Order: sequence, then structure tokens, then C-alpha cells
Amino acid sequence: MAKQAVTTIFFVLFHCIISYWAFMSSCSIHSFPKNSIPAIAKYFGSKGRYEEVNTYLIGDLLATNYSLVTLPPSKCNEIHLTAIIRHGTRYPSTKNIQKMREFYDFLMRNATSNLNGLSEIKSQWKMWYTDEMDGRLVDKGRADHRHLAQRLIKWFPSLLTEDNVRHGRVKLITSSKHRCMNSTIAFREGLMEGLGREVELEPAVNDALMRYFDQCERFVKEVENNKSALEEVKRFKEGPEMKSVMEKMADRLKLPYASITVDSVEAAFFLCAYEFAIHNLNTPWCQLFDEADAQVMEYAADLKQYWKRTYGHDINSKSSCILFHDLFHRLDQVVDQINSDGALSEAVTVQVGHAETLLPLLSLLDLFKDDIPLSSTNFATQKKRILRSGNIVPYAANLLVVLYKCPEGIRMGVRLNEKSLTLPGLTDPVPMYEDVKKRYGALLEGCDQETVCKINN
Ligand SMILES: *[C@@H]1O[C@H](CO)[C@@H](O)[C@H](O)[C@H]1NC(C)=O
Ligand SMILES: *[C@@H]1O[C@H](CO)[C@@H](O)[C@H](O)[C@H]1NC(C)=O
Ligand SMILES: *[C@@H]1O[C@H](CO)[C@@H](O)[C@H](O)[C@H]1NC(C)=O
Ligand SMILES: *[C@@H]1O[C@H](CO)[C@@H](O)[C@H](O)[C@H]1NC(C)=O
Repeated sequence: MAKQAVTTIFFVLFHCIISYWAFMSSCSIHSFPKNSIPAIAKYFGSKGRYEEVNTYLIGDLLATNYSLVTLPPSKCNEIHLTAIIRHGTRYPSTKNIQKMREFYDFLMRNATSNLNGLSEIKSQWKMWYTDEMDGRLVDKGRADHRHLAQRLIKWFPSLLTEDNVRHGRVKLITSSKHRCMNSTIAFREGLMEGLGREVELEPAVNDALMRYFDQCERFVKEVENNKSALEEVKRFKEGPEMKSVMEKMADRLKLPYASITVDSVEAAFFLCAYEFAIHNLNTPWCQLFDEADAQVMEYAADLKQYWKRTYGHDINSKSSCILFHDLFHRLDQVVDQINSDGALSEAVTVQVGHAETLLPLLSLLDLFKDDIPLSSTNFATQKKRILRSGNIVPYAANLLVVLYKCPEGIRMGVRLNEKSLTLPGLTDPVPMYEDVKKRYGALLEGCDQETVCKINN
């Protein structure tokens, strides 16, 4: 009897400790829904999750979906893979963290409406981003790369082998930015995990390749450091669509129109996006936007990519000539080796960089080119545009170039984010390598980094 009572008391006490611990750990941080996707998540652009592009990964981060990939028509062997990959999920830049803090402080001080979202922000959300987080890779970003490496082993089991790693036929190249270096290290961890053993594999840092945009003098002068190069973005932000987003947010918060600026709506949109990307949380920041608002925010970001990284200025794509030649030089070498003795020196090359590394290269290849330029005045008619950075460069975005040895010769396949692409101007989704080289003949013969990036006086 006494023994039973003691047991019961002990059980109840134990149960309370556990519940209290569970309660504290969920409530001390937040009580926002986890694993619920914000309705506006597909408009986050380059701040979007990779899982939004390939939703089948939500259930299984190691899944590979063959219905999205076109293989060569005949029986072929994979002989080479070059993967150019964006770093994984990261913290905001210091500049954006400051914008976020400023808007949060302002709401805490000045907003008094009891709109659902706002009262939750005020009572349950704390500003936890600090300046020194400045663009660093987060845990989710490490996981992005670890999982991608494991999926690439599944996609290319004959290339990503222990033997190839051990014999130096797998190379890792990275931008010097900490988020890229740490992504590369996470990628290597995923590789070792997938192969089931530790093999030595040192990444090489190469900014001339992975951050070519910093080194192209003409790009820096004419676009990067030139305000008027992004005039259309400025106009859009001053235009009627953005004004409506700001006024709707002011109405929701019951604040005067003059108190909500473009910086305010950007800060709130970033907060919604980052809380989701980093912690998988659907926070009340997301309730400050409806779908129409989010589309405007997405367009403002895509417009900037258009003018700064893709078709807006010719030098944007041309600045990637060095990476383009690096790729084709390697592919040529593989083809030469296959055609001579068959011993390959490079089976897989992984290059880790930035959204800014991928976008100009994709543009140089004429991919994601809309018929009509994106401008400050054509938001409405560009709703169906193909230049959507959320589809192209989410975190851990990857361009995969695969060579196949087939009975009829060498073929080349291209995948973006694990989905096959047909190169513009070619009809075959897995064309003969020679046809690819003809298609890009003008670039292969020109597109010289030095000439292109030199400033003509
Ligand atoms: C693969 O992708 C297709 C197209 O997005 C989708 O319909 C299908 O459900 C996916 N397959 C799996 C197994 O998730
Ligand atoms: C990268 O990883 C190292 C070692 O884990 C760590 O010291 C460093 O702070 C990390 N950098 C970033 C940006 O996360
Ligand atoms: C800045 O950009 C504008 C618009 O593209 C261009 O006309 C101008 O020449 C550029 N200025 C410099 C210094 O390159
Ligand atoms: C916030 O409120 C303070 C007074 O409480 C006022 O001085 C300030 O101008 C307000 N800020 C904005 C941006 O409206």
C-alpha cells in the first residue's frame, strides 16, 4: 500500500517534470506553428527553402525523383559530373538584421492595434538576430548540403564512389566566404556519411572562379557600384504596387501611412522568410502580407536579380565567362581522356558559391530568359515570367552538368535543382556533347574574361 503510493507520487512527480520541461522548451522560445508552411512561402525568392522547389523532399530529404529527370535514350554510362552549388540556408546580412531590428523596435513602441498577428509578435516574439550573425551558415544550411551530397550519391552511384574520392577524382572547390566554406565541409560530411567511411578530401578555395563578379572590373564599375544600373528597381519601389503593400500593412497595424516605408515591408517580409527557412516556423510576421502583397515583394527582388545578375545588362552574364570556360575546359578534358585511353582524372567536381555565381552563368547559357524585359511598369504582365529566383536559386540551388558515354558518342545532360533542363536552341533534352559545343560556339571562341571585364577608356 505505502509502496504503491510512493510509486504513484514518484510517477506523478516524474510526469510533471517531463511536462514542465516540454512546456518550457516549447514556450520559452515561441509558440508558433512548426511544420506549417506560410501561405506566401513560394514568393521568398532567393530566401526560399530548397524544399519549396522540390516538395517531395518534405517527407524524405534523401528522396530522388526520377520523374523530373530525362536520361539519355540509349544505354549509356555516366562519366562525369560537375555540380555548381549555392551555399545552404544562412542568417540575414547585417544590413537586413538592422532593418529588421529597427522595424521590430518601432512596432514595440508605436503599434497598439490588437490585430492577431501584432499582439502575438509583441507578446511572444523576441528579436533574436544579432549583427555578428552576418550571413553565416545556419544548422539548416549544413543539413541542406549534407542531404544534397547524399542525394547526389544516389543519383550518380558510379561517380561518387569511395574509389574516386580516394584517388583524387572528386574535387571540392569553394568561395572563400564562411557560408560557402562551411557548406562545403557539410557537403563532405554528407559524402562520407553516404559512402559509409572517412576518406581524405580537402576543399580548394578559389574566388577567381566562385566569386568572379568581384573580380570583373567592368561589372563592378558599371553595375555593382552604379546606382543608375538599378534605376528600374528604385522606380518599382516608388510605384503604385509597392505603395499598396505599404498602405495595406499600415491599415493592418492601424498606423499612419507615413510610418510604413519600403524598408518596413522588406523587414517584415524577410522576418517571415528567415524564421521559416532557419527554424521552420510560421510566425505572425507572415500575417502582415496577403498573396498579392507577397507577389509584389517577389517581383521587387526578381527585378533586382534581372538588372544586377541576369539579362538587364550584358556584362552581368559576361562576367561569368571564366566559370563557363572552366566548365567546358573540364568537359573537353574528360571527353579527350575517354577518346584516348579511357582513364579519367576527374569524375566529379563540386563548386560551392553563391546565387550570384549561378544566375549570371545561367543567363550566359540563355536560360530563364523572358521575351520581354522585366521593368518597373510591367509587374502585371510579367506574372507568368520564367525568371523567378525562388525556382532558380533557393538555398543549396544546384546546376548539375553530366556527361554520358553512349554507343553513339558522348552526351550531356543538364539539371537545375535536380530537374532536367533542355538548353535553349537545342531540342534534345540530353544532346550530343558536340551539338552543345556548336550551340555555344560563339562563347567558346570568345567570352574572354580579360577582354570582357576590361574597362574601355
Ligand atoms: C515526383 O515529382 C512529381 C512531379 O512534381 C510528383 O508528382 C511526384 O509525386 C513526385 N514523386 C514522389 C515519389 O514524390
Ligand atoms: C564554420 O564552422 C566553424 C567550425 O565549425 C566555425 O568555427 C565557424 O564559426 C563556422 N562559420 C560559420 C559562418 O558558420
Ligand atoms: C551606369 O548605368 C547606366 C545605366 O545602365 C549607364 O548608362 C552608365 O553608363 C553607367 N555608368 C557607369 C559609370 O558605368
Ligand atoms: C513613434 O512614436 C513616437 C512617440 O511615441 C513618435 O515620436 C515617433 O515619431 C513615432 N514614430 C513613427 C515612425 O511614427
